[in-house]
Amino acid sequence: MYFSKYTLLLPVLLGLGYVPAARGSSPYQVFDTLDHIPDDWEEIPDTQNTLPSTVIELEFSLDQPGIPQLEQLTLDMSTPGNPSYGQHLTPEEMDAILEVPQSSVAAVQSWLESHGFNSTVRNDHVAINITIEDTESLLQTTYKLYRHATGRTAAVALSYSLPLDLHSIVEVVEPTNGFPALKRRRNLNVAKPEPSRIMKRIDPTCDDEMTPSCLAVLYKYEDWTTDFPVAPENKIAVYCDHNIPQTADINKYLAEWAPDKVGATYECISIHGSSCNESTADPDETFESNFDMQHTLSATWPYKNIYYSDRTLGYSRFLRRIIMEKSFARTIEWGGSGFSKFLPRHSWQATAVNNYLDNKSPDTQDNQGWFVRSGRAYPDVAARANRACNYDQGKRDCFFAGTSASTPIFASIITLINGDRISKGKKPLGFLNPFLYSIAGPQGGLTDITGGRVEGCVQVGDKRWRATEGWDAATGWGSPKFHALKKLANDNLP
Ligand SMILES: *[C@@H]1O[C@H](CO)[C@@H](O)[C@H](O)[C@H]1NC(C)=O
Ligand SMILES: *[C@@H]1O[C@H](CO)[C@@H](O)[C@H](O)[C@H]1NC(C)=O
Ligand SMILES: *[C@@H]1O[C@H](CO)[C@@H](O)[C@H](O)[C@H]1NC(C)=O
Repeated sequence: MYFSKYTLLLPVLLGLGYVPAARGSSPYQVFDTLDHIPDDWEEIPDTQNTLPSTVIELEFSLDQPGIPQLEQLTLDMSTPGNPSYGQHLTPEEMDAILEVPQSSVAAVQSWLESHGFNSTVRNDHVAINITIEDTESLLQTTYKLYRHATGRTAAVALSYSLPLDLHSIVEVVEPTNGFPALKRRRNLNVAKPEPSRIMKRIDPTCDDEMTPSCLAVLYKYEDWTTDFPVAPENKIAVYCDHNIPQTADINKYLAEWAPDKVGATYECISIHGSSCNESTADPDETFESNFDMQHTLSATWPYKNIYYSDRTLGYSRFLRRIIMEKSFARTIEWGGSGFSKFLPRHSWQATAVNNYLDNKSPDTQDNQGWFVRSGRAYPDVAARANRACNYDQGKRDCFFAGTSASTPIFASIITLINGDRISKGKKPLGFLNPFLYSIAGPQGGLTDITGGRVEGCVQVGDKRWRATEGWDAATGWGSPKFHALKKLANDNLP
């Protein structure tokens, strides 16, 4: 779905005698540089000399001055007690806020025109089809060929330049210095469990194998389908760069671990023409999306599970895309752990995190100099992620672990709570964090994890963050308690 308002608008304005400012004639300056090549990638020679004549679709994403306003509105509509709580924006309202100034579009177009390129305007970006050789001259850069450990290759320009007077209106040019987010399959160092039998008694701790039934017991949502009616508008969204889940694997998983969900399917929505055709997926690019989809379907079906297929764009552009999707889904998932070096602490987490750093953490002193004290602290929450089971490429495994194992579980539980709320005529929770930090965490909506730790990488030696009472940098507020969370949301939020 491409928006064409600018393509319609421009000729009209030009017809009225509008003359774009003479931009793009200023001297070039480096616009963006990637300092190092990501792990698992290496430069290789372009032996066939194919790069120069390769045609790419070069996209100039333009700055959206409304983003700070959008942030404020998001905060207001997500903060319990705020008069606009739950008043989510419509896609049209979002479009209007994120609109790119017409003068920015005109400036980039006229600069491209002066180099002989007719561009196409789509929503917040201007695009041209151009050879790599011409791109090198347009952006004063050099593309090189790189190869990933999986064998995939990519043409990347580590650093590129733009005329100085375009710096303030262009946000990013792609494809330039972005490496495709490929991952090697991650089988983290978890001991391989004994082969287990399908019908054995459910282990409510999930210690042996993390399955949909033990998770439902652990987080207390096993009765959710009888607990409240299913609202058809409620949905969950799943996204992984360069991935397509596989129905054959999903079916095997459901048959073994969620027999009551056999027949559950996902709906694929393509971003920028990315393939939704499962058989076009690279076998190395199905694991993560398969895992997520198997877990969200097991926990949330018959709510709609939407998969966004994106084989061209990065994560930030995905988020922008998803909020513009007319039928956008209600729950998005992601994960991580630590203190951000780049993002500042949010107001909604200041009290909890300062309390942890000042009073509760035995590690604040010890880790001094190794973390940015004022940074955005995470995680916000935690969920079980050990010996998770899945099917991928027909192969059954029960030794997957990590943040990406716990995020679909937490997201699924929030989806169930949203379903309950929608069926009661209430608003979906939307951006969750102000509620988590002001109500759910302090009032017992989560199981506070007080044991265990997160260890740093090799370079920081034995530095770690230990779990303590209340919010901590190892497990956040803890793991979800479905009924308690649902009750706190229903009692406190309109
Ligand atoms: C660009 O568009 C103009 C007007 O539509 C056309 O005359 C010209 O040939 C086009 N140039 C290129 C390079 O496609
Ligand atoms: C570039 O070429 C492709 C393939 O012909 C086409 O689908 C796409 O719309 C073109 N993009 C631009 C910006 O002209
Ligand atoms: C999906 O891709 C496969 C392999 O490229 C192709 O044979 C098949 O026709 C495609 N299916 C659809 C529905 O486009």
